[in-house]
Amino acid sequence: MKLKHYTLTEEDFERFRQLINQTSGIFFDRGKWDILRLGLSDRALAVGADTLSDYYEYLTTDDYREEELRRLLEHLSVQETQFFRNLPQFDALRKFVIPEIVGRKAGTYRNIRFWSAGCSTGQEPYSMAMSLLDVLPDADSWDIRVMGTDLNEQALDTARQGWYPERKLTGMDRKHIERYMVPMDGGYRLTEEVRNMVDFHRLNLVTDPLPIERIGTCDVIFCRNVIIYFTHETAKFVVEHFFDILNPGGYLFLGHSETLWKMSNKYSLVELGDAFIYKKSLPRGINGRRFISDRRMRSAPLPPGIEEDRRKRPDRRAERTEPLPEVAESGGVREGAVAEKEPEGEQVFSSVEEAKTLLELGDYDKAVTALERALDTDSTRAELHFLMGLAHEKRDDLVSASESFRKTIYCDDHFSIAYFHIASILEHTGQLKAATREYRHAVRYLRQDDPRRWEKELDDYGVESLLNLCEWKIENLGGLET
Ligand SMILES: C[S@@+](CC[C@H](N)C(=O)[O-])C[C@H]1O[C@@H](n2cnc3c(N)ncnc32)[C@H](O)[C@@H]1O
Repeated sequence: MKLKHYTLTEEDFERFRQLINQTSGIFFDRGKWDILRLGLSDRALAVGADTLSDYYEYLTTDDYREEELRRLLEHLSVQETQFFRNLPQFDALRKFVIPEIVGRKAGTYRNIRFWSAGCSTGQEPYSMAMSLLDVLPDADSWDIRVMGTDLNEQALDTARQGWYPERKLTGMDRKHIERYMVPMDGGYRLTEEVRNMVDFHRLNLVTDPLPIERIGTCDVIFCRNVIIYFTHETAKFVVEHFFDILNPGGYLFLGHSETLWKMSNKYSLVELGDAFIYKKSLPRGINGRRFISDRRMRSAPLPPGIEEDRRKRPDRRAERTEPLPEVAESGGVREGAVAEKEPEGEQVFSSVEEAKTLLELGDYDKAVTALERALDTDSTRAELHFLMGLAHEKRDDLVSASESFRKTIYCDDHFSIAYFHIASILEHTGQLKAATREYRHAVRYLRQDDPRRWEKELDDYGVESLLNLCEWKIENLGGLET
């Protein structure tokens, strides 16, 4: 049989690559002209088109568009993958990332959410699931979900089977095969335990909304060897979206040669063993490095823990201009720096400054102690409760954090950033409707305020970005029943 030769004209090259780029992010530069021509030719032949121009018309006709476009994108995308691809990254996952997440969540919400975005035939999310089982002897006492998504439905079908011929087991060592696979039909199938941990869904990273209703927010995202095929703008769009769905402190694993350089400065790059991984860094002011003072008070009954007689005490902080207490070489606050007998307002001021320094140094337990001392003296200052909330949040005591943020807005009902924190905690714990409500409060008060009130505290993140983030959350979480 003689194979039909299709010619790709300059005009067709341009319009095909634009269509493909807009619908999948995949970009064909001129060096890949022939790869594109061959891929298009296969599909043109399959649908009986005489020329590639005819095929373009067919592809953009309403009746066929969706189905044929899906087929074409499946045909053009690179599916190459393997189990435990890039071992140093999986070592980092097992040795550092999972223990860190488990340590943070033990005693609070024992849920773990991993997402493999662009999972191809499933080896990557299954490797993530096996890594979790490797490290967590009590995995069944955790609420664990690993989600694999891809735009290629055929690849997802293979992934759902969880069966692979022996030649596809590259990357699996003997120990893992024995523990997590059973021989079947001349190949191997992953055990039910592993398969049950992973869900697969079709999702186009460029055109579909984030899968927040499926998975909630994530602790770890793997998106490896996917954005490498995208234009810079599309890759930037995708990684910025990942930032929104990642939990604070969450990790983004990119492919070996991929980097966020000039793409996003929201993440920090951390070296874990022999791998470099991106971590979601929090905006200043939200992670407790800059702080906010309060002015307003409410007249409703006080919640437990706030003493009535302290309520009208004036806020002295604004009158002070002294520097922060000195930090000792050991990294702690120098003893005695605030030890002298001071008037009450001064004592509170010192404790606040001390707590801020301790928060910056990451000594959250001591920060809590300093704040308790300050609250003993003045329990009506919103700022104190807010700092306490940050300290609890840092210790992953989300119940106490939420309580402290509530007290913050009790003392100052315009404390928009406290609403933001409450919303984040609610979202994190799956209470999406309540979270949406609190994000709305945050937006309302952020808008009402003089923007300069928070500008300094939020630093380079900015009020505008926080507003955008809240609005994005409202749009994406709103209406979801939980
Ligand atoms: C080379 S594979 C990478 C598989 C796996 N992440 C790994 O590194 O081993 C790239 C995958 O990205 C998928 N992909 C490409 N563009 C996509 C998009 N816009 N949305 C979702 N998946 C996409 C492809 O279908 C393919 O399965």
